Amino acid sequence: MGILSKLKPKPKKVYSAVLQNDGREFPVKEKQSVLSAALNAGIDFPYSCQAGSCTTCKCLLLEGEYLALSDMSLILTEEERKRGFVLACQTVPRSDLIVALEEDESEEFAGKITSIEKLTHDIIELKVAIPEKSKYKAGQYANLTVPDRIAPRSYSMASPAGSKELQFFIRKTPGGEFSEWLFGEAKKNQILQVRSPFGSFYLREGNDPIIAIAGGSGLAPILAIFKEAAGKIKRDVTFLFGVREQRDLYCVSEIEAIAAKWKGQFNFVPVLSHVKPDSKWKGARGLVTEFIAQANLSSESQAYLCGPPVMIDAAIPILKEKGIQGSNIFFDKFTDRSHLSQNK
Ligand SMILES: Cc1cc2nc3c(=O)[nH]c(=O)nc-3n(C[C@H](O)[C@H](O)[C@H](O)COP(=O)(O)OP(=O)(O)OC[C@H]3O[C@@H](n4cnc5c(N)ncnc54)[C@H](O)[C@@H]3O)c2cc1C
Ligand code: FES
Repeated sequence: MGILSKLKPKPKKVYSAVLQNDGREFPVKEKQSVLSAALNAGIDFPYSCQAGSCTTCKCLLLEGEYLALSDMSLILTEEERKRGFVLACQTVPRSDLIVALEEDESEEFAGKITSIEKLTHDIIELKVAIPEKSKYKAGQYANLTVPDRIAPRSYSMASPAGSKELQFFIRKTPGGEFSEWLFGEAKKNQILQVRSPFGSFYLREGNDPIIAIAGGSGLAPILAIFKEAAGKIKRDVTFLFGVREQRDLYCVSEIEAIAAKWKGQFNFVPVLSHVKPDSKWKGARGLVTEFIAQANLSSESQAYLCGPPVMIDAAIPILKEKGIQGSNIFFDKFTDRSHLSQNK
């Protein structure tokens, strides 16, 4: 054995983490996220996307070294990072750790389904009445649970803040527990447990142009933001709405009404990625990311992205190339449980 290997002990394969709130200790493997280890240890650690997007698993790292699996500066504010916040699902240990959860400020309501309407062949509009106003910002999301049946799933509100009837756009995920239930058995007056608000996807202050990019049911939080801001703020907007075919477009007249009311320019561009050869579609064809270059943006512009993770991952480098700072790019990746197997 050489002298160097004597001086440098092999890194520990399993570290210890302590949750300061209740002093519980749990093992974290060197390639495992703090979230995954906490869940394995039976700790009721808050989480949703498991992909470093939703911020539900945000916690304070009080002691220890770690490796970040993704750029948390895209999600956490500078102030949060200075205070020591990390995303547990994106944090793997490089030493023993002490973490703490902040007080959960979300509220729980018994919601009653008031309507279930098909918007497209695979997207449903779900409306849920809650007994009092929820304190969410337009763009944030709720966790919906079917009592005694389906564990919480995250869905973004399409309704503006202050609504007592929450509106959601929910896409059918083949083999997905919640969405299959919603498309099949769910009925008016059924009770859903609603916990909200969550997430850091909401409109930031500023005067510079905005680019918004939605894919499929990712329209929900962006529509909520636009509904609330229409007629109130004056900023130019480029809004790219990506779907596969013309039959996948929805809420177009509502978006056009917002555009008419908007102070400043509102350039709405629906983009179809899979247009049939015989289609009469005269609008944009291709991937939404191919249309970012056309947007009129400045170095202080903000980008708001919502929808499939693959769309968001493709758009971020293009937005950065166009001069948008990472700290001005906000997104919610609509991950589902198929991501669980990627983050063990
Ligand atoms: C912050 C946030 C906001 C969201 N907002 C919306 C929204 O507004 N609208 C919307 O439509 N969606 C939204 N989503 C996605 C949504 O939360 C659900 O993930 C989605 O609806 C699928 O739920 P499900 O119960 O139907 O499917 P799931 O039961 O979660 O299953 C999804 C897929 O994963 C597979 N799967 C299940 N369990 C596992 C496992 N253990 N390992 C591997 N694969 C597995 C299933 O077979 C299926 O193919 C959001 C997600 C996040 C994180
Ligand atoms: S669960 Fe970690 S950011 Fe969503």
